[in-house]
Amino acid sequence: MLLVTGGAGFIGSNFVLGTLAATGEAVVNLDKLGYAGNLRSLAALERDARHVFVRGDIGDRALVRRLLEQHRPRAIVHFAAESHVDRSIHAPAEFVQSNVVGTWALLEECREYFKSQGEFRFLHVSTDEVFGSLGESDPPFTEKSPYAPNSPYSASKAAADHLVRAYHHTYGLPTLIGNCSNNYGPFQLPEKLVPLLIHNALAGKPLPIYGDGRNVRDWLYVEDHCRALRLVLERGVPGETYNIGGESELTNLQVVEALCAQLDTLRPRSAGSYRQLVTHVKDRPGHDRRYAMDISRIKRELGWRPQESFTSGLQKTVQWYLTNADWVAQATRGEYREWIERNYGAR
Ligand code: NAD
Ligand code: DAU
Repeated sequence: MLLVTGGAGFIGSNFVLGTLAATGEAVVNLDKLGYAGNLRSLAALERDARHVFVRGDIGDRALVRRLLEQHRPRAIVHFAAESHVDRSIHAPAEFVQSNVVGTWALLEECREYFKSQGEFRFLHVSTDEVFGSLGESDPPFTEKSPYAPNSPYSASKAAADHLVRAYHHTYGLPTLIGNCSNNYGPFQLPEKLVPLLIHNALAGKPLPIYGDGRNVRDWLYVEDHCRALRLVLERGVPGETYNIGGESELTNLQVVEALCAQLDTLRPRSAGSYRQLVTHVKDRPGHDRRYAMDISRIKRELGWRPQESFTSGLQKTVQWYLTNADWVAQATRGEYREWIERNYGAR
C-alpha cells in the first residue's frame, strides 16, 4: 500500500493510474482538491477498490496520522504542492503553506510512524528549478549543483527539499528526492505552457509567449517521469537525490513551433497555420533563462531513460487533448477563467 499525496493533480493522477496498471499495488490518495486537483482525471478508478481517495490537506496532521495508522503504507510518494510559477509570483503565501509547512507536517508525522513500520520510504517529488538558472553554455545541473532558487515557487520547493534532507540526516527517515524537469502529457491543466497553447490554438486565441521566447526548458513526457519515480522508490538509496529529465532542451519558440506543426496536420484550420496565432507578451518577472538536467546518475544506477522523444510525446499529448475535450471544458471553468484574466489581462 502506498500513500500518495496530490494524486488528483497532473503528475499525481498519471502516477496513480500508471502504478495501478503496472504493479496493482493499492493506493491511498490524499488531495485537498484545490484548483489544480481534478477527480475526473481518476474517473477510470471509480469502482476500483485498490484506490482509496481521501479529500484533505497534507497540513492536517491528525488526518495524516489517522491515514498512516489505518492503512500502514510502506511508502509515501509526495506530489502535493502548489506548482505554478506564475501563481507563486502573484500570491506566494499558499506556496509557503502547502510546499514548506505541508511537507514539514508530513515529515513530522512520519518521524514516529516509520520506526514501527520496518520497511518505509518517503519519496519527495521535486523540481530542477531549485538549482536556479543556467547560462547558454553552462553544463547541465547535476545532483551536486548548488541550490539557487529564484521564484517563490522554486524557493518553497528548495525549502521542502532541505527539510526532507534534514529529516534523513537527523532522524534517519529513509527519504528519497527526485528533481525533475518540465513535464507534459494528459491531464495537465491548461495554465502551463503546453496545454495552454493547445487549448488556445483550438479556440483560435493568441498563443502567448513570454519575452523573446528563447528561454530553454528540458521537456519530459509525464509517464516517463512516473516510471522513474517508481524505480527511485524501489531501488533508490535512502538519503540520496536523483535528477530526472528528458535530455530534450528546447526554447519556448521551438515548443510552440512543434505544436503548431502537429496541429496543422492533425486539426488543420481554414484560416491558415496556427503559427499566425503566436503572440509575444510581457515577460514573467525573474524568468529563469535555462534549465538542463544531467541524468547520468539515474541512467547508470537505476537503468532508467526516457522512452518518449519530444516529438512522440507531444503527438500523444496533442491527440489526448483532441479526444478529451470534455475533460478540458470542465477543467477550464470558474477559477481557471479568473486566473487567465488575472495573469494575461493586464499585459
Ligand atoms: P498540480 O498543480 O497539477 O497538482 C498538485 C496537486 O496537489 C493538486 O491536485 C492539488 O489539489 C494538490 N495539493 C496542493 N496543495 C495541497 C495540500 N496542501 N494538501 C493536499 N493536496 C494538495 O502539480 P503537478 O504538475 O502535478 O506537480 C506535482 C508535483 O511535482 C509538485 O510537487 C511539483 O512541484 C512537482 N514537479 C512538477 C513538474 C511539472 O512539470 N509539472 C516538474 C517537476 C516537479
Ligand atoms: O522545471 C520544472 C517545473 O516546470 C515544475 O517544477 C513546475 O511545477 C512546472 O510548472 C514547470 O515550471 P515552468 O515555469 O517552467 O512551466 P510553465 O509551463 O509555466 O512555463 C514553461 C515556459 O514557458 C517558461 O519559460 C515560461 C513560458 N511561458 C509560460 C506560459 C504559461 C510562456 O512563454 N507563456 C505562457 O503563457
